Amino acid sequence: MITDVWQLKPEKSEVVPLFSKYGCNFSILREDLLHSDFGGNKWRKLKYNVLDAKSKSFTGIETVGGAFSNHIAATAAACFKQGLKCKIWVRGFESYRSNPTLQWAENKGAEVHFIRPELYRAFLHEKASFPNTGNWYFIPEGGSNEFALKGCEEILHENTADFDALFCGVGTGTTLSGIIRTAQTHQVVYGLPIMKKFDDQKRFIEQHTLGSKIEWKLLDDYSPLRFGKLEPEQLEFIRSFKNETSILLDPFYTSLAAFAMLDMARKGCFKPNSNILLIHTGGLQGWNGFSVSI
Ligand SMILES: Cc1ncc(COP(=O)(O)O)c(C=O)c1O
Repeated sequence: MITDVWQLKPEKSEVVPLFSKYGCNFSILREDLLHSDFGGNKWRKLKYNVLDAKSKSFTGIETVGGAFSNHIAATAAACFKQGLKCKIWVRGFESYRSNPTLQWAENKGAEVHFIRPELYRAFLHEKASFPNTGNWYFIPEGGSNEFALKGCEEILHENTADFDALFCGVGTGTTLSGIIRTAQTHQVVYGLPIMKKFDDQKRFIEQHTLGSKIEWKLLDDYSPLRFGKLEPEQLEFIRSFKNETSILLDPFYTSLAAFAMLDMARKGCFKPNSNILLIHTGGLQGWNGFSVSI
């Protein structure tokens, strides 16, 4: 049955206390629980895009991304659920087709096509110039557009208002921008880019939060040494976080944010008794790319 999942749920994620440590109190916002297949920031980013596509009677959504992209997996699942066709353009080669993320997308009925890396930029450029062609509604890489921002503005709510600091992973900067747009003036928003160079992301956030009075920072001390790779210390951290809280973090984004949050607290970066919120943005399908037990 096709259900308009976004119309059915009130969509306020629960704030769950985690622990008190290093003189601070930590909680987590369970965005990951919004949906089993496309929860977290994917739920937020896709919501108004899918509703727009449906209201304009597009029969399908097409999007683009890397072979293990959470956005690709989520878009395929959301289209399946909403009765839309899905076409996915993957940066890479036919040989990637058997990877778990793309297999998942195909099992949800998505068409998967490949674009050689040297042609990828030109393809993105063309799509940006002519986004919606025929019956296909186009969502850019990382699901990053104005509708996604609008959705990410709905992450925070009245139960997140009293926290002093908010922590969230950063890929394109869309999710963090939505959070900054709706944070309270007494809150500091910390973004954890998962890549070493993030000038584009910083610019994106600046451009999309113009006029905001919120203090925000992208932290550069914690980015993984190798983009897209899981360092052994990070894996160990994720395991111990799960042992302590029973909550599984994703391999890249929220785990990095959680690590940074606790490291900063340990180093005394926050006032005593600060209330700190970690935003769990989902992405658990990312574990499919690793053969490790957690
Ligand atoms: C699980 C997860 N969390 C956070 C992010 C970062 O989101 P954004 O691209 O909006 O910065 C991503 C990237 O898409 C993601 O997959």
